[in-house]
Amino acid sequence: MRDSHGILAVCFSLAAVLGGVAALAQPAAGPQTGIVFRNTVTGEQLNIAEGKEGGRDTPAVKQFFQTGKNAYIDDKSCLRNGESLFATSCSGCHGHLAEGKLGPGLNDNYWTYPANTEDAGLFSTIFGGANGMMGPHNENLTPDEMLQVIAWIRHLYTGPVKDAVWLNDEQKKNYTPYKQGETFPKDVKGQCPPLAD
Ligand code: HEC
Repeated sequence: MRDSHGILAVCFSLAAVLGGVAALAQPAAGPQTGIVFRNTVTGEQLNIAEGKEGGRDTPAVKQFFQTGKNAYIDDKSCLRNGESLFATSCSGCHGHLAEGKLGPGLNDNYWTYPANTEDAGLFSTIFGGANGMMGPHNENLTPDEMLQVIAWIRHLYTGPVKDAVWLNDEQKKNYTPYKQGETFPKDVKGQCPPLAD
């Protein structure tokens, strides 16, 4: 299903973009462009206003909801947070380095759902879940946190650079595979403030 990772919506609810407050989540206020996120398995449209409150009004999330482009890729401050969020929410099933365990590996170039090679597809899988044990994570991660987790998953990638379709040409040129043990200083500068302990 090629379109599962997002097509420009003709009617996209303003509330879904700016929302997060349940009271705002009512039928579309008017035509609005943006990505339509769809459940990875069923194709059903996801309501991105649903789930853990907050993390919907950062510049990165606003840009992502419009374009599907993740501004956190390669930002060390976001990678630092993403590593920690991944360790809490994902590594138990996908392995510490996303090498695969109960759930499939996320650090190679094989994807059960090819839509996950796009960050919009990966976001949909995290937000809405997939089959079986892969439940939706929108109750424990905000969209902003999901973008940080996505940046970290992309950072863990060890497959051929040519298959890393989430990187632009410039990023592909500078790409260095993840080295185990790599750490980021707590005060590293970037778009993502440190997570609250
Ligand atoms: C309770 C175990 C469990 C947890 C926790 C979990 N997953 Fe999964 N995940 C799975 C299983 C099992 C599958 C396979 C489901 C399928 O094929 O539909 C899967 C599939 C996936 C896929 C699809 C991979 C592909 O090849 O297309 C992605 C992406 C993914 N998980 C990301 C995550 C992320 C990110 C987190 C943390 C926010 C997470 N998962 C947390 C068990 C889990």
